[in-house]
Amino acid sequence: MDIFVIQGGSRLSGTVRVSGAKNAALPLMAASLLADGPVEIAGAPRLRDISTLGKVLGHMGATVERVGEGENGRETVRIDPQTVERAEAPYDLVKTMRASVLVLGPLVARHGKARISLPGGCAIGARPIDQHLKGLELMGAKTALLEGYVEVEAGAGRLSGATVCFDMKTVTGTENLMMAATLARGTTVLSNAAHEPEVCALARALRAMGADIEGEGTDKIVVRGVPALRGIRHEVMPDRIEASTLLLAGAITGGDVTVEGADPSAMDAVLTKLAESGAEVFAAPGSVRVRREGPIRSVNVETSPYPGFPTDVQAQFMAYMCLGDGFSIVRETIFENRFMHVAELRRMGARIDVSGNTAAVKGVPTLSGAPLMATDLRASASLVLAGLAAKGATEVLRIYHLDRGYEALENKLSSLGARISRVKE
Ligand code: EPU
Repeated sequence: MDIFVIQGGSRLSGTVRVSGAKNAALPLMAASLLADGPVEIAGAPRLRDISTLGKVLGHMGATVERVGEGENGRETVRIDPQTVERAEAPYDLVKTMRASVLVLGPLVARHGKARISLPGGCAIGARPIDQHLKGLELMGAKTALLEGYVEVEAGAGRLSGATVCFDMKTVTGTENLMMAATLARGTTVLSNAAHEPEVCALARALRAMGADIEGEGTDKIVVRGVPALRGIRHEVMPDRIEASTLLLAGAITGGDVTVEGADPSAMDAVLTKLAESGAEVFAAPGSVRVRREGPIRSVNVETSPYPGFPTDVQAQFMAYMCLGDGFSIVRETIFENRFMHVAELRRMGARIDVSGNTAAVKGVPTLSGAPLMATDLRASASLVLAGLAAKGATEVLRIYHLDRGYEALENKLSSLGARISRVKE
């Protein structure tokens, strides 16, 4: 297993390019199942989660290939869904990535049925998929749980439009039902829909495929079913979570980092908090620069659905707040178990008290390097940030978690002057 060895204390500076967004590329890959021709996804990041979903699609019989590797490892994934013969996602693959559930809506919409392994809980929370299933049922599907698999069958071979009101904002739930509705008979109204930029990007891609969708980015998405969708080529939006992580790497080390390709309009909540914390933020179309010279001001953060502060940046921001000049309250409202980085940060000298979904962080002048255990994707990133700012050496174990969602993070950080290397344990 690979580990990161980080020699802390270097001030990061320079320019780095953001990758395509994992959480935008995954739904686009699933959406390819709806098409009558090949779908090309340009700028897909080279990540384990992307290849896992590629394997899920391959298992169904789709032809999945990576074509035309561009600069910075950016490449195009080409999926031909015309050879799909099995509407099934097996346990072995789903267990490693719950986003595989995104194939459910497209499969039922296009093939009238789907059988996918029910994702179990994961490190950050129970993460049920009841909202996905409720929506499909309202659209006329029958669902059953058999031997750990959810089996879904569209009534009369095709889903029917319905009004679905989500009990909570769910990103992949909204994406799944939006995809399912594109080929349904009649009109579907999704209310209390998620507003995330990745949901909007998916709506735009589906529209380019011929879908009739409006209202993305608001509470109410309306989808009028069409008989068929065509293949397209679509560019993946920049990864706002990776961009935020890189900017925080600049801020935590008192550095000056520009992330090229980032879309500041999708990062408002994080950029606002960075500015409140005393960092200077320069946002321009297609790039964001963050520079910090003075002390880190402790600020409070509460995660919430977009446009609120993203849960996927909570752990990284908490690492930053560990070096703040006062008290910071970090509240996690999306997932019930997303504080696993706290115990590891404490091992570096951080002072954090947790009560329920709230962490009180008392800033300390320095953190000290230590061997650390990564527990999930974003928690791993927070440990890397802490290691970059700490005195001495930090080892981050189990970085396979990090590799699920960050493309060669060590290379990007090294290019900014970080002393970080990947070694075999
Ligand atoms: N929820 C339910 N029932 C459902 C669906 C969701 O109770 O049927 C709950 C969840 O348990 C959670 C809340 O609703 O408490 C929100 O979950 P959501 O469905 O929005 O999460 P997700 O769609 O499974 C996506 C991202 C996550 C990101 C969350 C929140 C993808 C592939 N994943 O997950 O990304 O944290 O939205 O923004 O888009 C990551 O990249 O590290 C990651 C975990």
